[in-house]
Amino acid sequence: MSAPDELLEEILGRYSDAPNPRLKTVMEAAIRHLHAFVREVDLTRDEWFAGIEFLTETGQWCTDTRQEWILLSDTLGVSTLVEMLNYAASEGTTDNTVLGPFYVPGSPERANGESMLVDPDDGDRVVIRGRVSDVDGNPIAGAVLDCWQNATAGFYAVQQPDEQTPENLRGIYRTLDDGTFEIRTVRPVPYPIPYDGPVGSLLKGNSRGWMRPGHTHVWLKADGFKELITHVFDVESAHLDEDPVFGVRDSLITTFEKDDNGELSTTFDFVLDRA
Ligand SMILES: [Fe+2]
Repeated sequence: MSAPDELLEEILGRYSDAPNPRLKTVMEAAIRHLHAFVREVDLTRDEWFAGIEFLTETGQWCTDTRQEWILLSDTLGVSTLVEMLNYAASEGTTDNTVLGPFYVPGSPERANGESMLVDPDDGDRVVIRGRVSDVDGNPIAGAVLDCWQNATAGFYAVQQPDEQTPENLRGIYRTLDDGTFEIRTVRPVPYPIPYDGPVGSLLKGNSRGWMRPGHTHVWLKADGFKELITHVFDVESAHLDEDPVFGVRDSLITTFEKDDNGELSTTFDFVLDRA
């Protein structure tokens, strides 16, 4: 047995009496993978210290309103992986994706067809209409669609308390008896994830971008069904193939077109999974 193998065996041996079986499983796997990583890249002492400095800085950037660790998890695709593994939905249901950091509970109730745009905005006005159903196509009446989106300036209301009304581009819609809904908003535009900290430096150092493609967030809830947290993406948006947080699913991309009323609109149906 090589010296690194012996070292690993000795470390894992210290966990043989760990009282919490789940914590033991997680710790043993973390240690095995960490050691394998260090050996695979043949980590130098300087690189080890650069890593320590990066992780230290990541923690130091965290405040009540800035979570650099979650940003790191997002940009490494770990947040999306956890969502994928935890949302085991039936075939034929709408894909889920990440919640993101800009959800604020308590959005105002909006009437069917009402716009959730409150503040002045240069963006194109759009309509998102569709139907919420179960996997068999039965309409779900009274389903809640909790929606939020960034303004055309590139920021969510929660990011700009001095520039935007708190309720801007936020709204809770409910489906009608036939399961249909109609949301009025502005066309979603790309926006940057926070890139002025250590995670941004790591992205730049690897020639990666920090712009998310335009999307509207929707959190669907209906009695007897699993909650669905997802996005609706615009097919014409830039950055669809390089989302820094890996939230894009092909099935969630939609097309806005001029409808008979001259409005830019899209039809996007949601299929929920029974709880
Ligand atoms: Fe977003």
